[in-house]
Amino acid sequence: MVSVLFVCLGNICRSPMAEAVLRHKIAAKGLQDKVKVDSAGTGDWHVGKIPHEGTRKLLDSWNISYEGMTARQVLSKDLEAFDYVIGMDDSNVANMRKLPGGGDANIMKFMDLLPDEKLREVPDPYFTGNFEEVYRLIDAGCDILLDKIIQEKL
Ligand code: 4NP
Repeated sequence: MVSVLFVCLGNICRSPMAEAVLRHKIAAKGLQDKVKVDSAGTGDWHVGKIPHEGTRKLLDSWNISYEGMTARQVLSKDLEAFDYVIGMDDSNVANMRKLPGGGDANIMKFMDLLPDEKLREVPDPYFTGNFEEVYRLIDAGCDILLDKIIQEKL
């Protein structure tokens, strides 16, 4: 099983949106037994909570399921356990680097999947309120990511 972990700050807005969107794309290709997806936050304030209303609204509008998803905090052992660990912004990556073993862990930045975009971080909609923009980036980035996974691992 190939594994992907998306990481943001609170694990209620960006990374759960990416988790749901990628899982949806994986199922559309019939790869659900080959690729698994999870998400986590570097912070612990929202542990146990369902995704933010803004994320839920966007996913509902695209008929993408987020059933059963609740927030959790990223752990040092996640960095080794997942094949792809993907931070949504620079501070998420920096905070994972501070975890034990984080210094030399294989961590990507989500926007590295979209080199032609001006934005180099996925903006935090908890503060901007712009969930549509985040969905657009996540949808495009997850297409590229799934192609990359298929090429590299399947
Ligand atoms: P996320 O957004 O990292 O995309 O889940 C945030 C959610 C909560 C907070 C910050 C960002 N917060 O400060 O509580």
